[in-house]
Amino acid sequence: RQRVLSGIQTTGYLHLGNYLGAIRNWVEGQSQYDNYFFLADLHAITVPHNPETLAADTYTIAALYLACGLDLQYTTIFVQSHVPAHTEFAWLLSCITPLNWLEDMIQFKEKAVKQGQDVGTGLLTYPVLMASDILLYEPDKVPVGEDQKQHLELTRDLVDRFNHKFATPEQPVLKRPAPLIRSEGARVMSLTDGTRKMSKSDPSELSRINLLDPPEVIQNKIKRCKTDPIRGLVFGDPERPECNNLLTLYMILSNQTKEAVAAECREMGWGQFKPLLTETMISALQPIQEKYKAIMDDQGYLESVLRSGREKASAIANETLTKAKKAMGYTLPL
Ligand code: TYM
Repeated sequence: RQRVLSGIQTTGYLHLGNYLGAIRNWVEGQSQYDNYFFLADLHAITVPHNPETLAADTYTIAALYLACGLDLQYTTIFVQSHVPAHTEFAWLLSCITPLNWLEDMIQFKEKAVKQGQDVGTGLLTYPVLMASDILLYEPDKVPVGEDQKQHLELTRDLVDRFNHKFATPEQPVLKRPAPLIRSEGARVMSLTDGTRKMSKSDPSELSRINLLDPPEVIQNKIKRCKTDPIRGLVFGDPERPECNNLLTLYMILSNQTKEAVAAECREMGWGQFKPLLTETMISALQPIQEKYKAIMDDQGYLESVLRSGREKASAIANETLTKAKKAMGYTLPL
């Protein structure tokens, strides 16, 4: 069986972008693979964070993983900070990562500008920790949204660099992972600006739908979302990014083909489409929200899930770490 690994930063709530770009794809493919999905609580502190809510946020997102349909029969769920190998390996990798590779990362540049003076070194070395997260598990595939593509490329470049320095072509030490990016939902856009991606860090709550938004909140956000004055709704018009985004959301959440939605909405106005999208969204999220409540009612259960996840993950991570350290020359006996 091929191995799959991915993670989500534990900052704030999960939104529809995280669900459609990542989790939904994890769930869909899980029975074919050996899966590892983790809570990236070390990445969460690369931007200013609140110590009072860090643990609870991690917990909430773990519960959402299960509520979205991850099945422990196929999947191991664990917390990044519970497996110290991630930080140790990140240090080793950082020593062979050229500084300019990190400075060139789009996400770093965007976030650094937003944060101004308060940029920690961790924001810069973030992709090295991400490479560590991935490479320790030697996954075949890493399912992510479009915005993580560049970080995956850096990870692959790092593998080549490591193997070139510390291994032979016949016997590479690290394994190159492949990104798995679905065409639909890989880039869910903001509800208030169809040219920007939906993001946890957008100051406006109206810009995103959170997975735990109650029906009346969803209704309000859709009612107020940005549209255009044109009648007849179509996919793919570059002048109408909001239209394309909202139709795409409707298509995915209602499980229809692009052709069917294009035909259904060709003559529609926004006044007709918005209630349709609202209803579809509410009923798509309802089962997730119900399951989430049930999981949160049983604290002990989730804790035991994360505990056994940690054991399984640690065993794999430690094995790869030992192998990599040996290749780098850390061979003195303990
Ligand atoms: P994060 O937490 O920003 O996002 C989690 C996942 O959601 C996807 N995503 C989106 N997809 C479509 N449209 C959007 N608007 C949208 N916004 C977010 C992301 O592409 C991602 O798949 N660095 C990562 C977390 C991470 C990780 C890893 C991922 C840490 N280590 C190792 C994979 C492997 C991050 O911050 O994603």
